[in-house]
Amino acid sequence: MAISLEGVGSSAKSPATASGSTANTSVTTTAGTSPSPIGGEKNEQNTHKADWDMFWADESAEKHPSGPSVALSELLEDHRWLLPKGRCLVAGCGNGHDAIYLSRRGVNCVGIDFCEAAIEKAQQRQLWAETYARIIVPQGTLIVLLYPLIHRGGSPPYSVTMEECEHYLKRFFVLVRVDPNCRCIEGQEGNEIILARMNSVPKTANSASSDDYNSFWTDLWDNKNTPWDKGDVSPALRELISEKKWQLPSGRGLVPGCGCGYDAMFLASPSLHMTGADISPIAVENANKLRDEKQIPADLVEFKELDFFNFDVPDGKYQVAYDYTFFCALHPSMRAKWGKRFGEIISSGGHLIALMFPLDKLPENRDVGPPFLLSEEEYHKVLDDNFELIHIDPKCKTHSDRAGLEIITVWRRK
Ligand SMILES: C[S@@+](CC[C@H](N)C(=O)[O-])C[C@H]1O[C@@H](n2cnc3c(N)ncnc32)[C@H](O)[C@@H]1O
Repeated sequence: MAISLEGVGSSAKSPATASGSTANTSVTTTAGTSPSPIGGEKNEQNTHKADWDMFWADESAEKHPSGPSVALSELLEDHRWLLPKGRCLVAGCGNGHDAIYLSRRGVNCVGIDFCEAAIEKAQQRQLWAETYARIIVPQGTLIVLLYPLIHRGGSPPYSVTMEECEHYLKRFFVLVRVDPNCRCIEGQEGNEIILARMNSVPKTANSASSDDYNSFWTDLWDNKNTPWDKGDVSPALRELISEKKWQLPSGRGLVPGCGCGYDAMFLASPSLHMTGADISPIAVENANKLRDEKQIPADLVEFKELDFFNFDVPDGKYQVAYDYTFFCALHPSMRAKWGKRFGEIISSGGHLIALMFPLDKLPENRDVGPPFLLSEEEYHKVLDDNFELIHIDPKCKTHSDRAGLEIITVWRRK
């Protein structure tokens, strides 16, 4: 398994000084000559880089000891998390101990310095997160050992907080593991947190029913990582039905991507039999448990482990379906298939209630998610062939942190 440690930066005196080889590890050090990859003013860059050059040149400066980070070895050796196979980058690898350690555990590792992990400016930290999102494969994992948490003044290594890290990474990565009590290098107790985040863009976003896409969701449920779950019926749906803004039909209803099933349970009645469908067996189990706790009869609402794009539709189809946080859970390339599928499964004259979320007119970051940002236009594009919009309420009630991001709509199957 190969590892290379490379210096990058205009006049980089590479701090990566490790060299040599073992039976399965070869270590090479290259002092790069390319311009710095980090944006920002050149002078700021030079000063920043000079600070780091000084740090590495200063024999008395506190540096990491001669082995890998204790928290990293604990994470892997106690099997708290399984290191995937493939390629691994250690940015800001310093003297390369962590990169060497990871390569010995079977990944193809590249360590680079000079050093995005220690950059000072918020703008650069944003770039740091974006760069990782670009270079880590979908569903690949970023391990961050946050250090130093304790503020120590204006020189490197610059302090970092969990909140900052969260702020920059959450847009691209789903938190799968965090250990604020991780084992630390002696004397650094309280100064380190280790966390692992998974790149949240599904691996094969182009194929709606692929095993990979589905396992992305089941993994989230398996890891109890369900940040979208509000624990209750969506206020807009409750308002639409309870305040009789639109008359719910009778017959059969479906909520795909139902999660814990709050909305399906709310819609169920003796005249409307509801099915909540989810790809995750854990979601279905949770929904069934909740229905039993609420003592809602099982013949009014059932929960099934189903792939929305691939299941047998009952004779007579569905008279109503409800979509909330399912459209935005799908990669934009899957949207046309979503619209077509609703056209297939809703009977003529039946209805689709679509609670649009998260609405955003800005053109940026539209292929980053889930949730993937949306506009009204995007619903029209994929529904207009088979549906006509019959109700829209841009002032609908919302969850408090989703105000301005939701519009409830009802569409009639032509
Ligand atoms: C963002 S969550 C929303 C859950 C629920 N609607 C809520 O608001 O709490 C998206 C849900 O869609 C499910 N899902 C993803 N792909 C699916 C598919 N092809 N068929 C059925 N469910 C799917 C996921 O397991 C997840 O529970």
